[in-house]
Amino acid sequence: MQHPVPSEITSPVSTPLLRIDGLTVRYGRITALDRLSLTVGEGEVVSIVGPNGAGKSSLLGAIAGLVRPAGGDIAFRGENIVGQPLEQTVRRGIALVLEGRHVFSGLTVRENLRLGATIRRDPREVEADIRSFFDIFPILLERRNEPAGRLSGGEQQMLVIARALLSRPALLMLDEPSLGLAPKITDRIYEIIRDIRATGVTVLVVEQNADRALKAADRTYVLNGGCVRLTGTAAELAGHPEFEAAYFGLSGRRSA
Ligand SMILES: Nc1ncnc2c1ncn2[C@@H]1O[C@H](COP(=O)(O)OP(=O)(O)OP(=O)(O)O)[C@@H](O)[C@H]1O
Ligand SMILES: [Mg+2]
Repeated sequence: MQHPVPSEITSPVSTPLLRIDGLTVRYGRITALDRLSLTVGEGEVVSIVGPNGAGKSSLLGAIAGLVRPAGGDIAFRGENIVGQPLEQTVRRGIALVLEGRHVFSGLTVRENLRLGATIRRDPREVEADIRSFFDIFPILLERRNEPAGRLSGGEQQMLVIARALLSRPALLMLDEPSLGLAPKITDRIYEIIRDIRATGVTVLVVEQNADRALKAADRTYVLNGGCVRLTGTAAELAGHPEFEAAYFGLSGRRSA
């Protein structure tokens, strides 16, 4: 199938922390990502929105090294990281919070947090980081000695985000952090994402809710069928005549 090449992003992107070019991911005969290109600038919050099966999780998985791409380049801080396993990408400063809030339910909150720091060899600083995260996530302080399995869904989401931060990532990737959470709790999660960004961490977040994806980010990519269908800032995309068509995969690939 012939796809037109998307024109460059309209908004100025500083130093791209992440640059993806022509990324293709296949599972057997299924093409999950089809020559996808995007950039994430240092300090940006970028969201990815698209319907079920659009390729959102495959994209995050390929960046994190969970999924081996069939083709394309992924440059992180200017270095090609395609095909590097998860442990390597974590060491380079990439953290992925998977969809579904995977906590170790029998371990306490504090034990769960420590597991986020297994690549580190500075136990004192890890403890200091844990204490500082309790400022951003006060509920985790309150419940630090309780088994994680007893936390609510929203609290577990906070725990897995905090755990990911303990590897001290430059890029934090979140796969549908609001899935199944009440709107108020989702608001809180997105406030936390803003706090995290304020600490200098770049954020790439997958979000199925289009409104939320636009509001939460500096820029958004609309994915469908493994391709970028539309991209731009919230101001460019909100009310864009082709937004819905792009989201539902009714249009060709193009940019805002
Ligand atoms: N492990 C796998 N084996 C086979 N096919 C897969 C696998 N993972 C994903 N796919 C397929 O690849 C395509 C993209 O899936 P992906 O999970 O990346 O989409 P998504 O946008 O994250 O969807 P969702 O919103 O449902 O999470 C879909 O057609 C999906 O069925
Ligand atoms: Mg997914």
